Amino acid sequence: MVSHLPPLLLIGCGQMGGALFRAWEKNGLAPSVIIDRHRETVATPHSLARSIDDIPNKFSPDAIVLAVKPQKAIGTIAELTAKRPDLLANSPVIISVMAGCTTQSLASTFADSPAGLSPAIVRTMPNTPSAVGRGMTGLFAGTGVSAEQKALCDTLLGAVGATVWLDEEDQINALTAISGSGPAYVFLLAEFLEQAAIEQGLPQDIARLLARKTITGAGELLDQMPEDAAQLRRNVTSPGGTTAEAISILNAPDNWPSSIPEAVAAAARRARELAA
Ligand SMILES: NC(=O)c1ccc[n+]([C@@H]2O[C@H](COP(=O)([O-])OP(=O)(O)OC[C@H]3O[C@@H](n4cnc5c(N)ncnc54)[C@H](OP(=O)(O)O)[C@@H]3O)[C@@H](O)[C@H]2O)c1
Repeated sequence: MVSHLPPLLLIGCGQMGGALFRAWEKNGLAPSVIIDRHRETVATPHSLARSIDDIPNKFSPDAIVLAVKPQKAIGTIAELTAKRPDLLANSPVIISVMAGCTTQSLASTFADSPAGLSPAIVRTMPNTPSAVGRGMTGLFAGTGVSAEQKALCDTLLGAVGATVWLDEEDQINALTAISGSGPAYVFLLAEFLEQAAIEQGLPQDIARLLARKTITGAGELLDQMPEDAAQLRRNVTSPGGTTAEAISILNAPDNWPSSIPEAVAAAARRARELAA
């Protein structure tokens, strides 16, 4: 197999780490080490480690991807830097997918290690459609991240969808409220549509099919067509027709659209509160 991606150390291989690893394997990943307590094996040429203690000697990754839960960040970095500071000897970029962990807090944890390390850190925020290669990831580069390391991050996160770099770290809170939490807003719409279809007398299986295919089809159209969302909406909305009737209710001052900025602001506020 031809490897296009350099060797990586992936710490945490759950929902997000697992989605990333599957995509990287598909793209041709050089022999890498995956720390995972649950899986039994990992495909050749990669190595499975149960813990930091099991990482092979002389392994030299180009990137260390931290994909454990945010509350485990400090403990994991402290263990890594105490036991295997050699893994950082060749200046791998640290890529965090951990929600709410700021580059400053991560940098402080590395700096507090016995070796006083100061690696280049990239903070990322992927979302759940990454699991099917349709993710949207925001990235923010901390101090000292090189152009090559940014390109590597783009390739790695780009393997599960689209990527965008943010100029200021605080913008990641807004991004979290839009693309991070956004899939839940769309799933809620799917729930409402399905329920409304049932109330209109359709059987549940048909109601579910209509709700799902409407949302995924409209999403695909939005992705593929050059028109903006407002134009695509107008294309479905004939004056005096059925869609116009529904849109006039949805657009009423106290209804759904006016609550979206409020909901997004609440999510962004909560993201800031949770950021460490
Ligand atoms: N899921 C998402 O859509 C999403 C989106 C954006 C960001 N994120 C971020 O991604 C990170 C992981 O989330 P997730 O949903 O993938 O969680 P998850 O499914 O629980 O995966 C985390 C994995 O890390 C393992 N782990 C914990 N401590 C470890 C250690 N010291 N060494 C090696 N592995 C360790 C866990 O094993 P145990 O179960 O044994 O503890 C688990 O398998 C979080 O920080 C989250 O904020 C997730």
